[in-house]
Amino acid sequence: MDIILLGPPGAGKGTQAKMMIEKWRIPQVSTGDILRAAVRDGTQLGLEAKSFMDKGELVPDSVVIGIIEARIKEPDAVGGFILDGFPRTIVQAEALEKILADNGRKIDHVISIEVDDEELVTRLTGRRMCKSCGESYHMVFNQPSVENVCDACGGELYQRDDDKEETIRQRLEVYHEQTSPLIEYYRERGGLREVDGTGNISDIFTQIAANLAGTA
Ligand code: AP5
Repeated sequence: MDIILLGPPGAGKGTQAKMMIEKWRIPQVSTGDILRAAVRDGTQLGLEAKSFMDKGELVPDSVVIGIIEARIKEPDAVGGFILDGFPRTIVQAEALEKILADNGRKIDHVISIEVDDEELVTRLTGRRMCKSCGESYHMVFNQPSVENVCDACGGELYQRDDDKEETIRQRLEVYHEQTSPLIEYYRERGGLREVDGTGNISDIFTQIAANLAGTA
């Protein structure tokens, strides 16, 4: 299954993707996670990406398309993947279609997770991430059992640099301008499923699972 998770910053793409990995045994491919790892490792890619990420802007299409082209050919992604945070522009969506077609593949499902902007700001300002495994928590809505310690791996939690309110608002503006047109793009191609991203995390997962099973 080749799946795209669409949605604004903070919609819960990462949270849901982690649950989907368990159920469908296919990897999450998050361009945000790949870019943050590059920033952390101080690579050339990281140096190039950091200035865009810190401002809440998109990293250039050519850079992220190259990342995805290499990643989805890796052995663990041959049987399917969950794309989280890619594509984010029409140019990226068209490039993805071509890369997949060249490899005899196509997108099977596009799940769009929908949440309004003010809820997103609340979620992102309260988000904490695990330094080791990237698991996502919230100081109020999704707390770890022990403060500042990841339930999954025991790693230390931190706040992302781009989770400051001013940067969050810029990321939302970029989402509405450059990424939300993808909803129409995929609606026209068929296979788009829209899921209400508010409410209980496991109820949202149940809705996603029903959509993927065709029983929603
Ligand atoms: P990226 O890392 O992709 O960030 P994003 O899209 O902004 O998404 P987030 O990770 O912020 O949110 P999420 O939807 O995964 O939410 P989460 O599950 O964590 O990108 C970062 C940057 O990298 C971009 O700004 C750009 O610069 C660059 N980049 C990445 N991809 C790119 C691309 N393709 N092209 C160009 N540039 C690119 O949940 C959020 C919080 O809410 C958590 O605290 C969680 O616990 C909580 N939560 C989750 N679900 C619920 C719920 N149902 N109720 C209450 N709280 C909830």
